[in-house]
Amino acid sequence: MNSWLGDSGWEVPGGLRVGGRLRVPGDKSISHRAAILAGLAAGRSHIRGFLTGEDTVNTARAMAALGAQVTGLGSPEMEIEGVGAAGLTAPSHDLDMGNAGTGIRLLTGVVAGQGVACRLTGDASLCSRPMGRILTPLRAMGAQIDAEGDGDRAPLAVRPTPLSGIDYHSPIASAQVKSCVLLAGLGASGRTAVHEPARSRDHTERILPAFGVDVELLADGAAIDGGQTVAPCDLTVPGDLSSAAFFLVAAALTEGATLTVAGVGVNPTRTGLIDCLRAMGARVEVVGEREEGGEPTADLVVTGGGLGGIEIGGELMVRAIDEFPILAVAACFADGDTVFRDAAELRVKESDRIAAMAAAIRAIGGDVEERPDGMVVRGRPLLPGGRIDSLGDHRIAMSMAIAASRCTGPVVVHDTACVDTSFPGFLRLLQKATG
Ligand code: S3P
Repeated sequence: MNSWLGDSGWEVPGGLRVGGRLRVPGDKSISHRAAILAGLAAGRSHIRGFLTGEDTVNTARAMAALGAQVTGLGSPEMEIEGVGAAGLTAPSHDLDMGNAGTGIRLLTGVVAGQGVACRLTGDASLCSRPMGRILTPLRAMGAQIDAEGDGDRAPLAVRPTPLSGIDYHSPIASAQVKSCVLLAGLGASGRTAVHEPARSRDHTERILPAFGVDVELLADGAAIDGGQTVAPCDLTVPGDLSSAAFFLVAAALTEGATLTVAGVGVNPTRTGLIDCLRAMGARVEVVGEREEGGEPTADLVVTGGGLGGIEIGGELMVRAIDEFPILAVAACFADGDTVFRDAAELRVKESDRIAAMAAAIRAIGGDVEERPDGMVVRGRPLLPGGRIDSLGDHRIAMSMAIAASRCTGPVVVHDTACVDTSFPGFLRLLQKATG
């Protein structure tokens, strides 16, 4: 079973062929939000399909440290007895959010809004990521937060002060910023509105009503009235499209392959990958669409075939932002050039994903030109394979494993422990999907 585990990471054989039917773990973005709101609710919530990756388990653990009673931590089915209105208590230790940008940014908004003293920190990657984007609006609401890292970086020490609602125009389209401010607004006096230059993922706007909180949808954002009570909720988290993406691209790259990923979230603010694959010439069907907890869910069926190069920018890039690494792999084997633009944000993700992917693509023999806000990938039918370093970035590690589909030799991926942040069991599932 572990024949792909080498001394220094994964050794994925070239010529990988995936097929069949599979399920992927719960959506990461929705799992973070479900744990937070269940922890704030007045009563007992039941969550199924929770992502048991390190990032989201850290968020549930943080809610427990803030006073919620969490049963089943580390399993996909959790019961959370929330603290109710003004019920959070200062934790006895720092909240360690590990590698999770979403975890630290959303929770900082929560604790600032609820007036709780606490210090939030994370791993070296997280402590190097920009926090000014949330500190600016939170401080404008009256929050007192010391950023102890250089230049507004974590650790973040929050001191309890009452917050007032604001009308905030974010300079970037970021769901983490929008959600941080809305969650802070839940505990602030008056109304809090967030406007953004392009529409980012809307999971917070969808999940708040499931927990009994009214949200006003605006043409360019959302608004919330402070002081609302959070009600408990029974919720099933759909499969993560960002995790399904690795398998969908593997199938799309394989002539004659058919793969179904069942029960995946298809929120339109997240489906840029499907649009990109279709534009590249892949056949992707969305079957049996239904709604769970305010989120559309469906089965996705991909049939493999020849892909062609496309341009990915603007709002399509925003809707496919986390899928850049796996789309860059698809581009390596497409006929012609694929141009990624408007993606400068990728330089401040879990790694500098533009630089990391350019290096990884070159390491397997691919042809890529790095640009400040993206890259141009010149496709080839096959590449030789080689050794790559994930740089501690889960999405780089998984994407490069998939690149083996069209490599003549193996792809060796170093530094794969990071995959457990978002997709525990990825390698096992990949082996299963290859029969
Ligand atoms: C996320 C928002 C996005 C995304 C991240 C998850 C979220 O980040 O890249 O993986 O759950 O709100 P930004 O808000 O920084 O764009």
